[in-house]
Amino acid sequence: MDFFETIRLRRSVRRYTPETVPNEIVEKALDAALMAPNSSNLQHWEFFWVSSPEKKAEVAQACLFQGTARTAQHLIVAVARIDRWKKHRDAVLQNLKEGGTDSPEVQQYYNKIIPFLYTLDPVGALTLMRNLMAFIVGIFKPIYRGPYGKKGLFEVAIKSTALACENFMLAVAAQGYGSCPMEGFDEVRLKKILGLGSKARLVMVISVGATDPKGIWGRQFRVPRDWVVNKI
Ligand SMILES: Cc1cc2nc3c(=O)[nH]c(=O)nc-3n(C[C@H](O)[C@H](O)[C@H](O)COP(=O)(O)O)c2cc1C
Repeated sequence: MDFFETIRLRRSVRRYTPETVPNEIVEKALDAALMAPNSSNLQHWEFFWVSSPEKKAEVAQACLFQGTARTAQHLIVAVARIDRWKKHRDAVLQNLKEGGTDSPEVQQYYNKIIPFLYTLDPVGALTLMRNLMAFIVGIFKPIYRGPYGKKGLFEVAIKSTALACENFMLAVAAQGYGSCPMEGFDEVRLKKILGLGSKARLVMVISVGATDPKGIWGRQFRVPRDWVVNKI
């Protein structure tokens, strides 16, 4: 399927037919998700593939009984994590070494700058220090302004995870099936089901199934391009 055709074909599907969606469809879409661009290649995402009927029912309940969740064959919970950066950083460095693309700049970035940005302390003193430093240095030259601290790290992780989600949904569409992203869920209940703590945020739940034509609510609408695109 042509790339632009896939983009046009993807719609948010609120109801699916009972047709089974083979696991390979989801596996392929997850592989596509993991190829998404992401911040510093730290791959802050984690995906929970919910496929057992019991767990699906629990997750659908946490998704406020939305029709798209209730009728889905598979549910994917996309999670942003800020506690895996050291492990992933080490894997990135190892890969760079093996690929012969290691350099002092890369080492400086992953061993100095990344720990500087990602290390958190209980009282937020480091966050305060980073903000102050950015303010002072920023008077003289361009500098990354954060947001620093836990909130900032989650922002970074959520952006990357959302890109992976789009890859996932497009890959589902390209294989002829439907999906729907959901942020309408009870995060506290859903985290409990998944056994997740405060270093994880739920980005979205994505339902997957065979599209019931009645599950597509009207024609696709976007506001005019010149409302939202500025050429400067
Ligand atoms: C982050 C995010 C959260 C969403 N949450 C829900 C949701 O909880 N329930 C739902 O039915 N649709 C949800 N949607 C789907 C949007 O309503 C939908 O993408 C939008 O209306 C445009 O329609 P289209 O996807 O068919 O082009 C969500 C979409 C995004 C990107």
